[in-house]
Amino acid sequence: MKVLVIGSGGREHTIAWKIDQSEKVDKIYAAPGNAGMKDIAECVPVDAEDKHALARFALEKEIDLTVVGPEGPLVSGIVDLFNEKGLRIFGFGSKGALLEGSKVWAKQFMGRYRIPTGGFTAFDEHCFAQEAIDDGSPPFVIKADGLAAGKGVIICNSHAEARDAVDRMMKRSDFGKAGQRIIIEEYLEGPEISILAVFDGKDYRLFVPSQDHKRAFDNDEGPNTGGMGAYAPVPFLDHELSEKIRIEIIERTFNGIQQEKIKGAGLVYFGIILTEAGPKVLEYNCRFGDPETQVILPLFNGDLFEVLYEAVMQNLDTVDFENSTDSCACVVIASGGYPGEYKKGYEISGLKEADDRGCIIFHAGTAIDKGRTVTAGGRVLGVTAVARTLEDALNKTYNGVEIIKFKDCFSRTDIGKKGLI
Ligand code: GLY
Repeated sequence: MKVLVIGSGGREHTIAWKIDQSEKVDKIYAAPGNAGMKDIAECVPVDAEDKHALARFALEKEIDLTVVGPEGPLVSGIVDLFNEKGLRIFGFGSKGALLEGSKVWAKQFMGRYRIPTGGFTAFDEHCFAQEAIDDGSPPFVIKADGLAAGKGVIICNSHAEARDAVDRMMKRSDFGKAGQRIIIEEYLEGPEISILAVFDGKDYRLFVPSQDHKRAFDNDEGPNTGGMGAYAPVPFLDHELSEKIRIEIIERTFNGIQQEKIKGAGLVYFGIILTEAGPKVLEYNCRFGDPETQVILPLFNGDLFEVLYEAVMQNLDTVDFENSTDSCACVVIASGGYPGEYKKGYEISGLKEADDRGCIIFHAGTAIDKGRTVTAGGRVLGVTAVARTLEDALNKTYNGVEIIKFKDCFSRTDIGKKGLI
């Protein structure tokens, strides 16, 4: 079987790494892929956002299954296009992708199916949003309706900050079209977890719950990033709480997807906050999380290719879906300055040594330059390790992190600490 993985980050490297373990797969292409994928996939210079070029490529190479990493192509309808052309692809069409592509649509969906989430008001007019800020009290959670590369949620601790956030979105168009419509949402407090599920239109299967670390620096300080590390499973999720989440959130969501006549198979990422009043949905995504994928797939004992292929065929009930009871940790090594401006092209050392120490190194922002592996992005590497306990997985991971070096690199030193209970 031939597989095409779309995207170029750590998530896509992990997906390709797991698919490569399938005996059914002969060849993997990555579009465009990254330097770390070169031994398992043929990286082809096709833009992940260019759905027409990707469809032409898939037809020409007779791809058996395409797996989409990032949200952009899903929201812009790559699955609808591939389906029209008879190409097999895992992911929701543009209607299902609204779960992530429109925060307003997702909130209204949650309302229709009684899925617990924070209260909200949607605004199309700048003046009404500003009025709501004047009448409310901080903290305010302000979200752009559309896709904003992970930067579309602003938490504001004063009226002045909130007014500025509304201006940035609705007046100054800092987020382009995504911010023309916004929601102002109830501020919720509690630990956040990510639960990822594969859905085939009838059945679903869950990967191990995980926890991301969104802030750049230790103790959850500094600016929001795409994610600085993750671990799984989440020890504070006991059976009772897991059942509550399954019944009130996961089952109602999949029932809603069926009621809305959203066709096809896809991945639903549940971003959940565990409040004192119970678990609530903070957000949905319609694709694998990054860096959650880097910790859930090493704990997945099944054949990922088979799972995604059979999900597209609506046969998820025929495949083995078993998660390991081990723990996994991933620490992201980033370029100095990230998530703001940073330099690229620095040589990376210590990759082989970290591998020798039992780590799996998932590449995100790397490139090959004259035979050397160099930095090429903000999040550069996800150093990952599996062990029997979370403590051992973290020790093994940080043992690898300490030996990898490039100019101005940084990583958090407290990934997984909240899980050490
Ligand atoms: N880790 C957050 C996300 O993938 O959106």
